[in-house]
Amino acid sequence: MAEKFNRATFTRSFLRHITKIKAPDEMLAEASEQGLEKTLGVWDLIILGVGAIIGSGIFAVVGIAAAGSADGSSVGAGPALIVSMIIAAIACIFSALCYSEFATMIPVAGGAYTYTFATLGEFAAWMVGWVLMLEYAIGFIAVACAWSNHFVQFMAGFDKVLPAWLAHPPAWLTNDVFTVGKLAAENPDLYVPRLLGVPVCINLPAILIVLLITAILVKGTKDSAKMAGLMVFIKLAVIGLFIVAGAFFVRPENWTPFAPHGVEGIFAGAFLIFFAYIGFDALATAAEECKNPQKDLPIGIIGSLLITTIVYVLVALVLTGMQNTSGAVPLEFLKAPMAYCMTMAKQNWAAGLISVGSLAGLTSVLLVLEMAATRILYAMSRDHFISKRFQKLHEKYKTPALLTWTVGILAVVGILTLNLDVAAELCNYGTFTSFIIVCVAVLILRHTDPKRERPFRVPFSPVTPALGILCCGGLMVYKSMQAGSSALLFPVWLGVGAIIYLLYGFIKNRNNENKVHREMVQSFENQEEM
Ligand code: ALA
Repeated sequence: MAEKFNRATFTRSFLRHITKIKAPDEMLAEASEQGLEKTLGVWDLIILGVGAIIGSGIFAVVGIAAAGSADGSSVGAGPALIVSMIIAAIACIFSALCYSEFATMIPVAGGAYTYTFATLGEFAAWMVGWVLMLEYAIGFIAVACAWSNHFVQFMAGFDKVLPAWLAHPPAWLTNDVFTVGKLAAENPDLYVPRLLGVPVCINLPAILIVLLITAILVKGTKDSAKMAGLMVFIKLAVIGLFIVAGAFFVRPENWTPFAPHGVEGIFAGAFLIFFAYIGFDALATAAEECKNPQKDLPIGIIGSLLITTIVYVLVALVLTGMQNTSGAVPLEFLKAPMAYCMTMAKQNWAAGLISVGSLAGLTSVLLVLEMAATRILYAMSRDHFISKRFQKLHEKYKTPALLTWTVGILAVVGILTLNLDVAAELCNYGTFTSFIIVCVAVLILRHTDPKRERPFRVPFSPVTPALGILCCGGLMVYKSMQAGSSALLFPVWLGVGAIIYLLYGFIKNRNNENKVHREMVQSFENQEEM
């Protein structure tokens, strides 16, 4: 009987601990005590937002979304790509509005992780932080490798002026081990060095760009925003050039049939192109560094999403007008569609500039993804989920330098060991989950804390958050039904996260609570003695 009673008490206490929420006021007080430097204004936010969003999605994935994948596993939207883009944008807008409500109400580092702690409690917060690492840290690794591919393509364009080893570097120095494995299967003569029988592959361009981005981020958020600004200017200029120059080569007959694969093609395109919108949520993770978060963050988040949608729709119109996407298309179109269309229009100069633009685009995405990963880990370290040492700021630059370098070095390890196709898919799962959780959290906090001041309110709640949950949930289910290996790995990732929480985060938090309790008792006893 006694044992049963103890077990029940234990279960109750365990449940109480894992659902313990952290009050928004406590978060705000902590952030104002030991917070990050406030340097970002509204333009910095819009630039960071556009910097985070426009990347490999529009420079590469858009080709597959329009014409379908080379292996036929996914059909294309054809000229109806503009409809796919608008559907994906609408799905994001619902979540963006929810992010804005939270970011203005609790403007501290951490984004969705922080909002979950304020609504669903300790365990859910840890799990969201863990899932966000899929979006930002694994996304960072995947985009670094895409950057490396674009860089290699760009250098190949200079094969008449550069030495051969630079214009066409060996595959083992520019790819991960899985890609080299596939290349070696197609070409048995491919040279791959081995160490104790294990193939050695070092994706040098990806590693170097990761180290460079890490150094820039350590130097300061404001400097990073300036660098992102330059990159955003270059990529927007190049995309603008494509739209204006390409318009002269549009053949309206390419726009019919409008939707060659009907509704299926449009939704397959919407799912794929969703990747091209990921990034606006990263702005919320930098809320603590905003000068005026209440006013500027909603403008930054929704403004960057709207600018991107307009740019994407214009690109889709010109692209599908230049290239017929109703039937089979060349592989080059699927890899780099804008550059390919310009080459076909005999505008090689424009194709070269587009390569530069895509490198700039990917660089700014990398900056914001790594920044977001470090800001979430920073918030998690504040909450005793990871070592407090990571909170230490650089004496001169006032950025979390140790944490930023740790993320950079771990990314290098990931580049050397991960299968990147799977990593990119896992990144999408992480994003969908965090979007859904933020929509749910808005509904919960409206219910549990209705009086809290909300400088920005999601219009038409609960309809808007419910539509956000429906859209993102629908896309996630659609993807899971395709049963890729990432659909199986995602629950594994969640399971590993839960085990780490129980073995480390839970214990660390209880130890901390006991310490605080002991200190309080001690100070009480000291006062009594006096
Ligand atoms: N939206 C980002 C990109 O397209 C992730 O690269």
